[in-house]
Amino acid sequence: MTKPLRVAVTGAAGQIGYATLFRLASGEIFGAQQPVILHLIELPQAQGALDGIHMELDDCAFPTLAGVEKFSSDNLELAFKDVDWVLCIGSIPRGKGMERSDLIRINGPIFTNTGKAINAAASRDVKVLVVGNPCNTNCLIAMSHAPDIPRANWFAMTRLDQNRAASQLAIKAQRPVAAVQNVAIWGNHSATQYPDFMNAKIDGQPASQVITDHDWLKSTFISTVQQRGAAVIAARGASSAASAANAALDTVKSLVNPTPAGTCISAAVLSDGSYGVEEGIISGFPLSSDGKNWKIIQGFQVDEFSRSKIDATINELKAERDTVKDLLP
Ligand code: LMR
Repeated sequence: MTKPLRVAVTGAAGQIGYATLFRLASGEIFGAQQPVILHLIELPQAQGALDGIHMELDDCAFPTLAGVEKFSSDNLELAFKDVDWVLCIGSIPRGKGMERSDLIRINGPIFTNTGKAINAAASRDVKVLVVGNPCNTNCLIAMSHAPDIPRANWFAMTRLDQNRAASQLAIKAQRPVAAVQNVAIWGNHSATQYPDFMNAKIDGQPASQVITDHDWLKSTFISTVQQRGAAVIAARGASSAASAANAALDTVKSLVNPTPAGTCISAAVLSDGSYGVEEGIISGFPLSSDGKNWKIIQGFQVDEFSRSKIDATINELKAERDTVKDLLP
């Protein structure tokens, strides 16, 4: 009998959480042979909603769901006890007219407690994916308060940007999205991020050969991906939920399975100085996984245009880090 994986989800009753839990429970993410125990974490006032979600999870009769445990965010150490994965979704979302970094002083402190509780209670091999914004810097805050958890186990989500970029390239090229591969997102999950079309491939060919409108690639494509979160908020009156949940699950799935040759996973990890990105910040890079360990893929082409875009987003991350200096031990 395979030992169940314990997967904690903060903000479990929120829109992203709700769109995440059933797929985590279904066997889709960790495999049909891998039982999962879900730790649902919510604010004290949302515990009733967790009861309803628990009923619905029971009602799905997922063979892979080995248990559901509900916790208040008042006691994160209890909630994170022995967990193997933490999806940090719970946070205040941005509204119309805000940048994600406007949330930094609101959400940042939440991640101090999250990091401390993970350090105190989670499995020593726990993997943590931060979704709540500004996710790169929130991840840095949490990681800094969890000195006993390996640095390689911390991720912030740029997969939503990767998926958005792949879709935009596919639409422009009039090809199915499955034909688009190797899309890296550099830097911050923000309006400065650099969605990298230079190394992207469409049907195995460089995207910039398939899409000959290079002005579009260098301007409209980049700004569409950078501004997509804001566009969703403007249209929906609320920030992306289903696509964010999907991207979080894609991230986990991609990390626990080998990355196919010639493709990359996009996630933000602690920089080791690769590609001239300052060490010690959480930056989007092209990654590959063997199903257990990941590495930053080396050898991506970075020309002068890409360099200036990467530098701009890294400078923003450095500024965000300075803004939360008091939250970093
Ligand atoms: C997104 O990219 O849709 C999310 O990070 C939410 C937001 O504030 O943009």
